[in-house]
Amino acid sequence: MTEALKAVAIDGPAGAGKSTVAREVARRLNYLYIDTGAMYRALAWWALRQDVGCEPVALTALAEAAEIRLVATDEGTRVWIHGHDVTEAIRSPEVSQHVSQVAAVAGVRAPMVRLQQQMAAQGCVVMDGRDIGTRVLPMAQVKIFLTASIEERALRRYRELCARGVPVELAALQQEIEARDQADSSRATDPLRQADDAVVIDTTGMGLEQVIEAVLATVRRKVGDH
Ligand code: DC
Repeated sequence: MTEALKAVAIDGPAGAGKSTVAREVARRLNYLYIDTGAMYRALAWWALRQDVGCEPVALTALAEAAEIRLVATDEGTRVWIHGHDVTEAIRSPEVSQHVSQVAAVAGVRAPMVRLQQQMAAQGCVVMDGRDIGTRVLPMAQVKIFLTASIEERALRRYRELCARGVPVELAALQQEIEARDQADSSRATDPLRQADDAVVIDTTGMGLEQVIEAVLATVRRKVGDH
């Protein structure tokens, strides 16, 4: 990849609203939406099911062999691993607590990054994650770093989980998000980091539509044809 790729890379900490925003931005641009966190979550779900724990060699083997598919449907993307539809299961607190440890393993990241680059090779994608602008698609035309205060991110996740009937406590959720940010930012391989050429959007106090508009305005500025 030597020239700018028709892609929008959206990175940022947990609960910043990346996936909701990225999905809607992709719909409005008529781009394909790729949720890379869902891929790490699917792998974490599989690792829990296989009782692999956090052992890097075993996790690497699982990642190398993983058949992960993101299937676009009218109701959104469905996530599959080894023939199991795990779209809902990967959002469980159990997976959320385990996934950072899985995503920290270099041998896990390499095949995931490869797969993500293949998915984006056709261009016209909106991809969200932690290392999209820095590692997966360094040549993306548009890079956004979406963030918000920890309190607001925890509250958003709390409301989201409550709406889905998942019992959770706000203070515990905030701690879990902080721990995940810490793990994602301090790992040795491709940590969560703002790309030098990323546009930062702090969504604290902003409504969803406002954030979507801010992202689209950035795309228009960088690409010029939307
Ligand atoms: O965005 P999310 O909360 O669904 O991400 C789940 C986990 O996967 C999170 O701990 C960070 C990790 N992740 C990553 O390391 N690299 C990515 N490109 C996407 C997610």
